[in-house]
Amino acid sequence: MTTEENGSAVPPRAGITATTAYARTTRIDELRAIEYRHLDRDGRVYLDYTGAGVAARAQIVAHHDRLLTDLYSNPHSENPTSEAAGSLVESARHAVLDFFRADPAEYAVIFTPNASGACRLVGEAYDFGRGRPLVLTWDNHNSVNGIREYARTAHAPVRYVPLTGPELRVAEPDVIAALTTARGRLTGIPRRRSSGGSGLFAYPAQSNFTGVQHPLTWVDLAQQHGYDVLLDAAAFAPTNRLDLSAVRPDFVCLSFYKLFGYPTGVGALLARRDALARLRRPWFAGGTIRAVSVQGDWHQPMGDESGFEDGTLNFLSIPDVEFGLSWLGSIGVDLIHSRVDLLTRWLLEHLTALRHRNGRPLVRLYGPATGTARGGTVAFNFHHPDGSLVDERLVAVESAAAGFALRTGCFCNPGAAEAAFGIDQDLLRDSIRTRPETIDQHLATLRLPTGGAVRVSFGLASTAADAERFLAFAESTYLDRDGPTDIRLAPRIRC
Ligand SMILES: Cc1ncc(COP(=O)(O)O)c(C=O)c1O
Repeated sequence: MTTEENGSAVPPRAGITATTAYARTTRIDELRAIEYRHLDRDGRVYLDYTGAGVAARAQIVAHHDRLLTDLYSNPHSENPTSEAAGSLVESARHAVLDFFRADPAEYAVIFTPNASGACRLVGEAYDFGRGRPLVLTWDNHNSVNGIREYARTAHAPVRYVPLTGPELRVAEPDVIAALTTARGRLTGIPRRRSSGGSGLFAYPAQSNFTGVQHPLTWVDLAQQHGYDVLLDAAAFAPTNRLDLSAVRPDFVCLSFYKLFGYPTGVGALLARRDALARLRRPWFAGGTIRAVSVQGDWHQPMGDESGFEDGTLNFLSIPDVEFGLSWLGSIGVDLIHSRVDLLTRWLLEHLTALRHRNGRPLVRLYGPATGTARGGTVAFNFHHPDGSLVDERLVAVESAAAGFALRTGCFCNPGAAEAAFGIDQDLLRDSIRTRPETIDQHLATLRLPTGGAVRVSFGLASTAADAERFLAFAESTYLDRDGPTDIRLAPRIRC
């Protein structure tokens, strides 16, 4: 430790770039200088990769070139332009399977508007019932939490598995207990997966709040208990290899803009064909039916993935997914993973070491403080020297003014937020009884100093300079700064 003039203890700043591990990832710096040059315009620093990935110049050029050199039209028609569009869509479907090493005989790719759309397809068509529960972890995005509404409508038990300990992880015995008791069986000797379908277990491979990576072995574990598994890979897939020949969830949801920035509006549900066959869609739409009669009040759904793709697909953007996947493949997911891992470890080490002059820590971290079993998402709050919290909305305003793109709030993950801020069930019950209409009213009843954190996340084009500049901003703005300020902050509008 060194002591600076003002007395604050600051650890010596080991340069990340000096390490051999970093040197092995310099291809990313080369790409950043050419393909991602627009990220650096006006001195901005992009640190919201869990929100959205960023697009390379080559992706935009490829889209532009394709649309200006040929004509593509509605793939439901039968003419040369629609066939051209249809064949690019099918090619993209195969590229998705290849990328995730999924056997086409085992998995289907259903294109959706985003990961949320994929969750909804499963939720609305899953055969929930009194004996077919929904089990899910507290740590889940709202787009997975929302499935509980379908389960409740079908009178299915809904059981949450809590987060425990300072790292906000899920304990495996708690998963097993939830899987066994949710169906009313208190003793659960795992039986071999037969046909599945006796309940749905939903969890994220990586938390979009804490960055925790929950074990992929729970896919098999839940299947052994007879459950279908929905693995939310939205935050995991952009910087980690997901190999569906090794781990075989029944359903996987993701959004492609999170992997490579462009296109938006296209996601996928990767579904095992046997699990897909058990879903019962609550409606039909153009493109999803083989035959239908109005007067006969009858319809016959398509038996494959197209039975789940409502209306006209985004046929001008889906081919960009194939380009994006090959772009990502050419950089290498493992290389991106290494770079993100290095930056995350470095930031964690230095951010958590920052101390005010009185010795109190600047930062309270939510989630693992080390790089083990976690991804590149780092959530925390700043604290004043007296221990009071720096409102995350103030950080949003000040970081934006300094050119940083980061995220503040609860990141649509209320379960992780409740665990992070220590909100227990009794407290929650009192608040909910008052029927708060806004998140601010809810927080006021809970008497919490905040309902939100600051989130910094790294991704495929992140560099050492991004991490270093954020750390410098944190030090120069919040170290030894007394609070609170009387700046009027905008109300929180969503969670
Ligand atoms: C873990 C996780 N799941 C699901 C989603 C929903 O993704 P989308 O908004 O693209 O539907 C997100 C979005 O941030 C996420 O981080």
